[in-house]
Amino acid sequence: MTTDITRLTLEQKASLLSGRDFWSTKPVDEAGIPSIVLTDGPHGIRRQAGGADHLGINDSLPSTCFPPAVAVGSSWDPDMAARVGAAVGEEGLAFGVAVVLGPGVNIKRSPLCGRNFEYYSEDPHLSGVLGAAHVNALQAAGPGASVKHFAANNQETERMRVSADVDERTLREIYLPAFERVVTEASPATVMCSYNKVNGVYASRNRWLLADVLRGDWGFTGAVVSDWGAVSNRVDSVRAGMDLEMPGSNGTTDAEIVDAVNNGRLDESIVDDSVRRVVALTELPHTATNELDIDAHHRLAREVAADSIVLLKNDEVLPLVGGSTIAVIGAFATEPRFQGGGSSHINAARTDVALDEIRSLAAGQGSTVVSAQGYSLDADASSGQSESLRATAVEAALTADVAIVFAGLSDREESEGFDRTNLQLPDEQVELIIAVAASGTPTVVVLSNGGVVTLEGWHDDVDAIVEGWLLGQACGGAIADVLFGVVNPSGHLAETIPLRLEDNPSWLNFPGEQGHVRYSEGVFVGYRYYTTAGVPVRYPFGHGLSYTTFETTELLSTVTGSDSVRAQVTVANTGDRAGKHVVQIYVATTTGPVRRPRRELRAFVKLALQPGESRQVELDLGRRAFAYWDIELGRFVVPAGEYTVQVCADASTVLHEQIVTLAGDAVIRELTMDSTVGDWFSHPVVGPALMAGLQSSMTPEQAEQAAQNPDALKMVESMPMQQFLVFTNGALPVDSLEQLIELSKVSAPAV
Ligand code: BGC
Repeated sequence: MTTDITRLTLEQKASLLSGRDFWSTKPVDEAGIPSIVLTDGPHGIRRQAGGADHLGINDSLPSTCFPPAVAVGSSWDPDMAARVGAAVGEEGLAFGVAVVLGPGVNIKRSPLCGRNFEYYSEDPHLSGVLGAAHVNALQAAGPGASVKHFAANNQETERMRVSADVDERTLREIYLPAFERVVTEASPATVMCSYNKVNGVYASRNRWLLADVLRGDWGFTGAVVSDWGAVSNRVDSVRAGMDLEMPGSNGTTDAEIVDAVNNGRLDESIVDDSVRRVVALTELPHTATNELDIDAHHRLAREVAADSIVLLKNDEVLPLVGGSTIAVIGAFATEPRFQGGGSSHINAARTDVALDEIRSLAAGQGSTVVSAQGYSLDADASSGQSESLRATAVEAALTADVAIVFAGLSDREESEGFDRTNLQLPDEQVELIIAVAASGTPTVVVLSNGGVVTLEGWHDDVDAIVEGWLLGQACGGAIADVLFGVVNPSGHLAETIPLRLEDNPSWLNFPGEQGHVRYSEGVFVGYRYYTTAGVPVRYPFGHGLSYTTFETTELLSTVTGSDSVRAQVTVANTGDRAGKHVVQIYVATTTGPVRRPRRELRAFVKLALQPGESRQVELDLGRRAFAYWDIELGRFVVPAGEYTVQVCADASTVLHEQIVTLAGDAVIRELTMDSTVGDWFSHPVVGPALMAGLQSSMTPEQAEQAAQNPDALKMVESMPMQQFLVFTNGALPVDSLEQLIELSKVSAPAV
């Protein structure tokens, strides 16, 4: 159905471009344009029937709380992301939601960001692949998605007004590619612009971001929706290509649009374009099906959660063996934390409690379970209470063959809306871990946290560490599955665990000051920095253990074009359990005019292998795997030269590598009088012409002198031509240089 918008009045058109209320758009009944509902997202449906808010304060209707992005990111499995997307889409449709707000694909620039639980990774390739899989599957189920928060929203501090000051290469290589992939590979119905400014201009009215990059470069045809309350100048926003202001403003800003068109400040055709895009959203399916398979979705939530858990350390204590006594310690074992605070907060249809799930699996193995609270989650607990809880926990550990300590962060320590200031677990939990480990009973720590916590101070005391992140409503069952080996852990870190917060490359410039946050580390974000600078970390990006072992054969890299390579490896499960393995392919190079990270993740695949099974996989590396963003040419460039393709166990551990030589792009730059002498002489067309001209104008003595001093040119190579002329008293005639500049323009490829 195509709605004829030419029959709408200007007032009607303006009214379509902002919300009716918190979660819905305005209808135009005469034109048959319905109201639709947009709601959070991303890892479940937050459909509020009563009081509405975007802070997760008022309850919503019960729905499945799937593992948040921090978990799905660690699964490194686009299939898992897709299955979550599909299920969220189905639940959205059940509630009559036309657009589900998510996923969030912002980069984890700092481990302190309060909303890291809602984002996938510090790496744009991993974030983009998972985000695109989620969106494709969600939209196939019916509703539209809203990929968010576009762009450079990497902190919560001052999120509604801070300017993220990021150079263009860094934006194009790190902060934009996940959005680009989702837009180009999954065509989301909407993109949500962020609250913050990008290089001084609010995202909601940033023409460069919304018109030039999103629509121009990437061909986005959907609607741009504002983050809730992100619009501060409606007319500027519409002019920049921001279509739908959410929530509503009781018509105030609609009137501003009408005025601006009437007095010639805003072209009506711009309004029409936005209206067409918003009307297209109303054509998405949005009649509530009321069909919700809560049981099936709970099982899926458990499966995804188990595959997202990262086994960080295991000194032969896991999986748990039968016939033993297990001490389960820690308040999180009975009061699970499985999702973050804020707008994504789901009213979970059901909750698995780890202690119950452990009891049930232990019973099947002939093991017994004792338990102790260990610490209080009550902020007002006294130190006396903490001491006594700790003492009881140590007693429980002493009676057991193995102690499992549940530790983590509560909503008090991390949430949307604010950033953390350190990476510490609460003191009483650290003291508990140390005390239990000191009892001599083998100790396993299970973590529940949305952002990275430091493991320093206790890492070496314990025998195993299970990083559970926030796992959604089936967290308890998933953790039990991994502890008992019902599921072989296969998660890998999607973000580095540093030794010290101060080692993080954004540390000096996070969260910024006086309204600005400078992304001065450039493209050296996360592991790109740690590996390049050789800074040791506790666990690198990509790390994750299994209960089985895998072997990866030699890498075979075949050049398939001027800027593409096929990487081939064979992986074998050499242990005695079925398991999943992630093949991680990185590319390293020093080719080209810009400094590159030591290595960058460019492809990955997760394989399920039975014991003894081996499989050959081929991964295609396209031009972007080798490209950098060239700020002079304003485009991605693959320089000719050598590239090392690496198959790695994690970002710090290369298993095999192979060097390939790529023809790359024929890059010919336009010359100016500001170009250096070196640029002039090395220019493939102008250089030889200049040299020929120079030689023909030399006296035999000058030619002889030049031949005897071949390094003379080197000394002046970095001198701009303008200055060179001054120093050499006009050795080269200006008019012939001007002709050569014209020649360089003709020979430079169009960009
Ligand atoms: C959040 C968005 C969310 C919106 C609606 C905002 O505060 O930043 O992610 O979708 O509220 O709840």
